[in-house]
Amino acid sequence: MEYKVKDTGLADRGKMHIEWAESRMPVLMHLRDKFSSQKPLKGQKIAGCLHVTKETAVLVKTLVIAGAEVAWSGCNPLSTKDDVAAALAVEGFPIFAWHGMSVEEFYWAIEKTIEIKPTLTLDDGADLINTIHQKHTDLAKEVIAGTEETTTGVHRLRSMEKAGALLYPVIAVNDAETKWDFDNVYGTGQSSIDGILRATSILLAGKKFVVAGYGHCGRGTAFRARGMGSHVIVAEIRPIQALKAVLDGFEVMPMDEAAAIGDIFITATGMKDVIVGRHFEKMKDGAVVCNTGHYDVEINLDDLQELSKEKKEVRPNNEEYTLTDGRKIFVLAKGRLVNLAAAEGHPSEVMDMSFANQFLSLIRCAREGKNLDLRVHDIPVEQDQELARLKLETMGIKIDALTNDQIIYRDDYTAGT
Ligand SMILES: NC(=O)c1ccc[n+]([C@@H]2O[C@H](COP(=O)([O-])OP(=O)(O)OC[C@H]3O[C@@H](n4cnc5c(N)ncnc54)[C@H](O)[C@@H]3O)[C@@H](O)[C@H]2O)c1
Repeated sequence: MEYKVKDTGLADRGKMHIEWAESRMPVLMHLRDKFSSQKPLKGQKIAGCLHVTKETAVLVKTLVIAGAEVAWSGCNPLSTKDDVAAALAVEGFPIFAWHGMSVEEFYWAIEKTIEIKPTLTLDDGADLINTIHQKHTDLAKEVIAGTEETTTGVHRLRSMEKAGALLYPVIAVNDAETKWDFDNVYGTGQSSIDGILRATSILLAGKKFVVAGYGHCGRGTAFRARGMGSHVIVAEIRPIQALKAVLDGFEVMPMDEAAAIGDIFITATGMKDVIVGRHFEKMKDGAVVCNTGHYDVEINLDDLQELSKEKKEVRPNNEEYTLTDGRKIFVLAKGRLVNLAAAEGHPSEVMDMSFANQFLSLIRCAREGKNLDLRVHDIPVEQDQELARLKLETMGIKIDALTNDQIIYRDDYTAGT
């Protein structure tokens, strides 16, 4: 079995991390048990391109227990946890991922997973699907269907669908309520703060904390930053999101104004060039800048480089840029996802639901894939509700149910006051 990871000597530590995650992912573990004898993924070859974290390892092992053959790469050059990758390699999984890989190595790793000749694909950001669509159209015919984990990936796949370029159906796991409204909000919120703290160790209380993008990830991060005592400022482009931020009690202003005020900046938009040269020109000495949105495109580091006379790493995942006027700006995790590069990504408890959705969606792809229309599909509402129900059950929380009488009353359009 072929693999490429940083150091297999880290495997024991990785194994312990995976076991820890398993103990915190009761819904996925319940589904693992449920499907271990049925083996609904038997005969399926799954190529996966998803952050190599302890939670992903739990998913990978679950897919194999359900009968699949897998080949895996990370979906971000800085997000791989080398100990987890080592544990997977030592256990016999074909995994091609290590922290700090170059962009060329990143695409090389994707190519290695495609050698499996996948029947199903799992993406986070659509890089694997794109590679298959651009370079392996012959293999695309053999792919029954795929799944996509994140907002930007789903957006791109919907563009491909519109352009008639999609070669096989895809399920938008990101858009499940039990994913988007939990993983992106509570997961990104907590883990982004965790990444900032690990990379800087600064006090958040009293700081002006600028969040660009008040969508799911931005909102989660804004609330967590406020919880730590920061004064949060939001920059948005959509009026409704901006209004929500105002009514949630945050200050809202364009980035051009926030740039001069902020102590800490975080982007969570999925868009490129959210912080560019003219913003760096206004920033205070000592400002900290990071991204928790998409790739490394949200902060324009070429612009910052041009304004700088010196750059040095001052702590892990923290680079100090000294501008020609002497001001210093600190960039975390090279502008890549701060929560995954500088911390451990989302807590296992929240990935439990995201990856339960992935697992059930891949089973759906295997069962119904040949009959799925050639488009981007949503998760069935019943799956979402069932996963929420299971999650509550594992937390020991009971909820009410409508009585028959209440159901009749709800549907009775003749009832008045
Ligand atoms: N860090 C992580 O682990 C993680 C987890 C999930 C999603 N993501 C990524 O984070 C990004 C955001 O995801 P989301 O689910 O919050 O999306 P979303 O669509 O809910 O929110 C994005 C928000 O950014 C705003 N926006 C777009 N361009 C902007 C600009 N130039 N300036 C200010 N605001 C702008 C949009 O109006 C929107 O409200 C995506 O790229 C997604 O793939 C990262």
